[in-house]
Amino acid sequence: MATSKPAPVQLNFPPSSSMEVLFSKEEIAGRVKALGKQISEDYAGQSIVLIGVLKGAAIFLSDLARAISVDNTFDFVAVSSYGRARVSSGAVKLIKDIDNPIEGKHVIIVEDILDTGLTLSYLRGLMLQHMPASLKIATCLDKPERRLVPIEADYIAFQIPNQFVIGYGMDYAEKYRNVEDIRLFPEEAVGH
Ligand code: XMP
Ligand code: MG
Repeated sequence: MATSKPAPVQLNFPPSSSMEVLFSKEEIAGRVKALGKQISEDYAGQSIVLIGVLKGAAIFLSDLARAISVDNTFDFVAVSSYGRARVSSGAVKLIKDIDNPIEGKHVIIVEDILDTGLTLSYLRGLMLQHMPASLKIATCLDKPERRLVPIEADYIAFQIPNQFVIGYGMDYAEKYRNVEDIRLFPEEAVGH
C-alpha cells in the first residue's frame, strides 16, 4: 500500500547581498550609541545587569554593553523558539536560566525583536520573581503591529512594520546572524 509522506520543507537561502538594507551598520551603530548614552544617563552612579535573550540578541547586547559607560555585567537566557509559525497560545519555554542572582539589582532585558510580545511578557514575569531592584527592556527592533499582549520596551533602536528581517544577530533558519546590516528577508524565499 502506498503511503503518502509530507513533502520535506524546502528552505531557500538567497545571498544576503541580494536583500534590501533596512538599516545599515552605520545607522545601527548610531542608534546603539544613542541608546547607550541614554541608559548611562538613566542609571548614572548605578550598576546594571544586562540579560540577553539568546541567540538573536547576542550581537546587539555586545555592542550595547560597550556603549553604556556605567558599570554593567551580563547574563543570558534562552527560550524555545517556534520559528516562523509562532504559537499564539502564549506557551514559551525557558531553555537556559540566568547564571547569577539578580535580587536587588537593576536589570535590563536585551532582546533582538519585540514582536507579538509573548517572549518578553513571559521573561519579564519570570525575572520579576527574582525580585530585582528595577526591570526594563531594551530591544533592537520593535514590530508594534504584531503585538498580541500589551508590553512595550523602554529602549528601542528602531520600529519596523510587519516584515521579516535578518542580520545583526537575527536569523532565518540559523543563517545570516553575522550579516552586518539589518536586511529584509524576501517573503518568496520562505520555505512552506
Ligand atoms: P515574540 O514573542 O515577541 O517573539 O513574538 C520575538 C522573537 O521572534 C523572533 N522574530 C524574528 N526573528 N526576524 C528574526 O530573525 C524577524 O523578523 C523576527 N520577528 C520575530 C525573534 O527571535 C524574537 O526574539
Ligand atoms: Mg530572539
